[in-house]
Amino acid sequence: MKSLIITKLGGSAITNKHIPFFAKKDVLKNVARDISILMEQYKFIIVHGGGSYGHFIVKKNKLKKKGYANPLVISEINQAMLTLSNIISATFLEKGIPLFTLHTPSILSLEGKKLKMHLRPIEYALNSNLMPMLSGNIVLDKEKNRYAIISGDVIMKLLAKILKPKLAIFGLNVDGLIDPKSGKVIRQIKWQETLKFTNLIMKTQAPDITGGMKFKLLQAAKIAQLGIEVRIGNITKERGLYNLVAGKGIFTKIT
Ligand code: IPE
Repeated sequence: MKSLIITKLGGSAITNKHIPFFAKKDVLKNVARDISILMEQYKFIIVHGGGSYGHFIVKKNKLKKKGYANPLVISEINQAMLTLSNIISATFLEKGIPLFTLHTPSILSLEGKKLKMHLRPIEYALNSNLMPMLSGNIVLDKEKNRYAIISGDVIMKLLAKILKPKLAIFGLNVDGLIDPKSGKVIRQIKWQETLKFTNLIMKTQAPDITGGMKFKLLQAAKIAQLGIEVRIGNITKERGLYNLVAGKGIFTKIT
């Protein structure tokens, strides 16, 4: 039985956050090549972020993380995320990866404060040797016109909780968590210490709508708390994701 790895492709790694609708095809090709090798040994679930697709529309419309929105805006965000999902899936397919995009707002719903995930399509895809992919996106609430923007980091946490993967990887465009004092990557932290580090990092990073690095770290800590090792590192480098899975090179490990 192949063990399961859940991998987040961060928006800042796979898109240029400063240019609307700019997917970094070279990064996606590298990531796809790494996965095409690794999938001989592991099963993967991919989760991708919004980057200059979803986040751009959110910012343009000054949307909050949750609330009420014009249906046209909700539709536009969903469309932007599907466009990015399609670019990723086409790139992966070219490398022989049977990626299977599962549409986040069709798998997740909000029942008031509770976020519900419909797990079967994910399980059935895995059983059929497909590689499920989800993304951060808008999720609809039971209440009329109410929405929430759900980060891919939250989806990672939900997947970890239910599916108990061997490893959870957060792919970024930096080598890991950088200690602002030394400028060096923090190589290992315990989940109990994450709060201390998030406060350090918060002072140096501008948050985005889904909370930026602080929020990501908190989700990562919740995953590590389940006994699942989390690795945060750079997937924009040649063999970046491959090395993260192999445990080679520089990255931040949360245990
Ligand atoms: C954001 O997802 C989704 C939308 C803005 C619609 P993430 O929060 O996972 O995206 P990144 O990784 O920060 O870009």
